Amino acid sequence: MCGIVGYIGEQDAYPILIKGLHRLEYRGYDSAGIAVANSGDELKIYKAKGRVDDLEEFCRSKDISGNIGIAHTRWATHGEPSNANAHPHYSESENLALIHNGIIENYAVLKQQLINKGFHFRSNTDTEVLVQLIEYIKDLNKVDLCTAIQLALSEIVGAYAIAVLEKGVTDRIIVARKSSPLVLGIGDNEYFIASDASPIVEYTNKVIYLEDEEIAIVSRNEPPRILTIKNVEKSHEIIELEMNISQLEKGGYPHFMLKEIFEQPQTLRDCMRGRIDISCQHVVLSGIIDHKERFLDARRIIILACGTSWHAGLVGKYLFESFCRIPVEVEYSSEFRYRNPVIYPDDIIIAISQSGETADTLAAVELARKSGAFVYGICNVVGSSIARNTDSGSYTHVGPEIGVASTKAFTAQLVVLSMMALCIAREKKTIPDERIKALLKELNRIPDKIEKILQSNELISDLSKIFTYAHNFIYLGRGFNYPIALEGALKLKEISYIHAEGYPAAEMKHGPIALIDTEMPVVAIATDNGMYEKVISNIQEIKARNGRVIAVVSENDTVVKSIADYVIEIPATEDCFDPLLTTIPLQLLSYHIAVNKRRDVDMPRNLAKSVTVE
Ligand code: G6P
Repeated sequence: MCGIVGYIGEQDAYPILIKGLHRLEYRGYDSAGIAVANSGDELKIYKAKGRVDDLEEFCRSKDISGNIGIAHTRWATHGEPSNANAHPHYSESENLALIHNGIIENYAVLKQQLINKGFHFRSNTDTEVLVQLIEYIKDLNKVDLCTAIQLALSEIVGAYAIAVLEKGVTDRIIVARKSSPLVLGIGDNEYFIASDASPIVEYTNKVIYLEDEEIAIVSRNEPPRILTIKNVEKSHEIIELEMNISQLEKGGYPHFMLKEIFEQPQTLRDCMRGRIDISCQHVVLSGIIDHKERFLDARRIIILACGTSWHAGLVGKYLFESFCRIPVEVEYSSEFRYRNPVIYPDDIIIAISQSGETADTLAAVELARKSGAFVYGICNVVGSSIARNTDSGSYTHVGPEIGVASTKAFTAQLVVLSMMALCIAREKKTIPDERIKALLKELNRIPDKIEKILQSNELISDLSKIFTYAHNFIYLGRGFNYPIALEGALKLKEISYIHAEGYPAAEMKHGPIALIDTEMPVVAIATDNGMYEKVISNIQEIKARNGRVIAVVSENDTVVKSIADYVIEIPATEDCFDPLLTTIPLQLLSYHIAVNKRRDVDMPRNLAKSVTVE
């Protein structure tokens, strides 16, 4: 939901800012802009509707020199994507330029007050209200910019990560955050500002994560000074990043999504490394072991998440209920946070979020913590807001996921949930040690089995050509594979813009079966596990109505092969780990259909990877 980047140092700011915007484009890509201050007492803004490439094209013939600047890539909330609504925004006098990630909820009231005082607005954004308010307060109270920002932010309801430049001031950028992420990079005589560490990592691995309601004065040649909105001085630990540049590049693949699909054998090995011992006797998750009593006494588990992470949560429900015998509820964070939910002090809340920044999940976590429940986070982005706001947790350790449609983060979430369920089951003694050992051995084999499935890429690419122009799809699965049917449908929708629905296979006869005809492709997950015979009956029902069935089946299957129109074979595994395998061909199918349709796979329309607004 919008990416922000800033630079102050001795290098030319423009190339650093543009590269940073490209790295943050996954956060929004409907318009982009840049402001550079130079010693000529100028504060110039350049903006363009469209991608960062369009901004670069627009800037090609312009003089954008200067070694201090801020830049923004937008995902529209207030006001359509346009040049006028793109950031940065000027204040009335054009003495200030501001970029913003988040939402100012009380912007309408403030805007009217400012209009009454003679201010003029050039955009329909909530952001412009903030920059105008800062200038109004600064001039009215005759205070410096930092104080004006502190006072203005005290009047704001909502979420923000902002950076502000002032005309004629070429040695300082002021930034602040609340509920939207902001990282400061500490280089040699240069400083970086960004929504996440990806624009910073090639210049320095030393960063500071700002906390909520903090403001930082980032000055040339001196360490950032950090204060709260209420003017209390803060000190911050400098953190060393582990990210490396190759993780941020496509590495020869045409799209990040394909790279990330193919990375999965390795990312899952990374996720398990050091957690499952070599002999597969134990799984050690310190986040659980250190709080063992909370898990042993848990009355209930509530899983909170959005999007693909919510689908991982559904698989988690099956895992925890069958292995640990703890009742589980899986909630959309956005519903939970506004529902006045019943939360017991002996509940365990598990928040799942790749980015660790999803606004609804973060707010749901805060609500749960206030109720005294123990909150466990499963995040990918190290140091992210959800990771920092939970009592304990496990990182997925898959490295940066850049394709907007989640793939490798999803499978790692499933692995973390599997390890958690087995770790708790061992402590609770809800399943025998021998069975845990067998399951851990099988979990260890999953990366090799995924490698085998990836060899079907060509076959799935060929199959995708048959279905490129379908208008609708149905995905069916049962048991552990029901959430994978939902996830398969979501992947297709997200990147190909084909309407798709996921359903528990047996529910199909309560509605969706009315949609079945020769035009309707049905993807059925029909592996030789617990519900095999039942799913075969469901496939028969579709064939009896002339539906076209693509089935994901276990190797050596003969029965489904004889009924379905097309099959994709995958290796056999335990019922509970089936989702880790069945999801792979569905990722590839969506990918190839989207490529056939010439969609922008990594940056699908209207979506953003990190949803920091509610
Ligand atoms: C967006 C992304 C999805 C993601 C969801 C939740 O919608 O496009 O891929 O699953 O947000 O994000 P999170 O970072 O909380 O997992």
